[in-house]
Amino acid sequence: MQILITGGAGYIGSHTCVELAAAGHDLVVLDNFVNSNPASLMRVEHITGRKITLITADLCHAADVSAVFAAHAIDAVIHFAGLKAVGESNDKPLLYYHNNITGTLNLLQAMDAANCRQLVFSSSATVYGVPQKLPLTEDHPLSATNPYGRSKLMIEEILRDLYQSDARWRLAILRYFNPVGAHESGLIGEDPLGPPNNLMPFVAQVAGGRRDKLSVWGKDYPTIDGTGVRDYIHVVDLAAGHVKALDKLSAHHQGKCFVVNLGTGTGYSVMQVIENFKRASNRDIPYQICPRRAGDVAEVVASPDFAREFLGWEAQRGLDEMCRDHWRWQANNPNGFAS
Ligand code: NAD
Ligand code: UFG
Repeated sequence: MQILITGGAGYIGSHTCVELAAAGHDLVVLDNFVNSNPASLMRVEHITGRKITLITADLCHAADVSAVFAAHAIDAVIHFAGLKAVGESNDKPLLYYHNNITGTLNLLQAMDAANCRQLVFSSSATVYGVPQKLPLTEDHPLSATNPYGRSKLMIEEILRDLYQSDARWRLAILRYFNPVGAHESGLIGEDPLGPPNNLMPFVAQVAGGRRDKLSVWGKDYPTIDGTGVRDYIHVVDLAAGHVKALDKLSAHHQGKCFVVNLGTGTGYSVMQVIENFKRASNRDIPYQICPRRAGDVAEVVASPDFAREFLGWEAQRGLDEMCRDHWRWQANNPNGFAS
């Protein structure tokens, strides 16, 4: 198939491009590089030996999005493009709603007009809000605690309404848990602009000497050692989940709308991540215990059962591989794609 990947230059998008190319698909990437670097796609081409068609455009410009479908026969879309920083979304809610929701509406309208009704959407475990029961199954009640999460929830609801209105649509909503790690080549990985918000890239930069020490946000949670527990998933496993979701959609001759968790089902604490990363990098990782971060919860862990039963997908890589591959990327590219 010819697949349009919005946000394909970003962290998860670039890794998914590698898996899609390996599965034999032709790739068209649309990105405005607001949070990525075109070098990532050159490296994807290097890894895969395949050419990617690049369209530099903003999803918020409807005419540019329609033009993509006029110029290319797109069979399916994987929609990663969006802004994702929780803190920034509290400060700039209009930016987040405009970018994430207007961008998605423009995409869906252009797809409908072009008779392309097959989409995989990047949702997030954040739509479960504060977990009421662990592990999180797909039928857990939904809620949002910040504008970023609310934009994901709204898009999920838009997609469900769309399917209700026209059952020709084939829609996969994938709820990611905590993506970490990098491609084993060390050529592509996460390249945050400014200080990382997330744990693993921050730990990697401390190990690499780019930052002095890690702040551990809270050691008084009801968890194994008092620090927050998350379901970290290797980004290459996550990428493979997209190929499986696309296969599942394509196998349906009629419409379909499904929601799947992409997690491992195993949680690790902040201290366990630090200890594992120390071993992987053979570096010290200085840290200090700080008060809890506003909005954080003690534990978030997926039930991976439905993904295994329905998609035939489950994560293959554990925390050792996540830390090893994240470290290889960090060590080889201390300043990300600018290195
Ligand atoms: P990323 O920032 O690395 O990638 C997003 C890409 O979208 C970037 O290349 C960015 O330049 C592009 N983009 C943003 N707005 C755009 C627009 N209006 N037009 C064109 N391109 C635009 O983020 P990521 O970690 O790869 O995340 C991909 C998707 O997965 C996002 O939708 C994110 O919300 C979701 N997600 C990420 C995580 C995570 O922890 N990384 C967790 C759950 C869900
Ligand atoms: N943490 C620290 N120090 C840091 C960063 C994080 O101690 O510098 C802790 C957090 O308190 C938490 C754990 O590490 O206990 C993981 O934090 P992350 O910021 O890496 O991940 P979150 O689970 O908070 O959030 C991430 C994404 C969200 C997404 C969510 C669920 O940032 O956008 O996963 O997919 F919604």
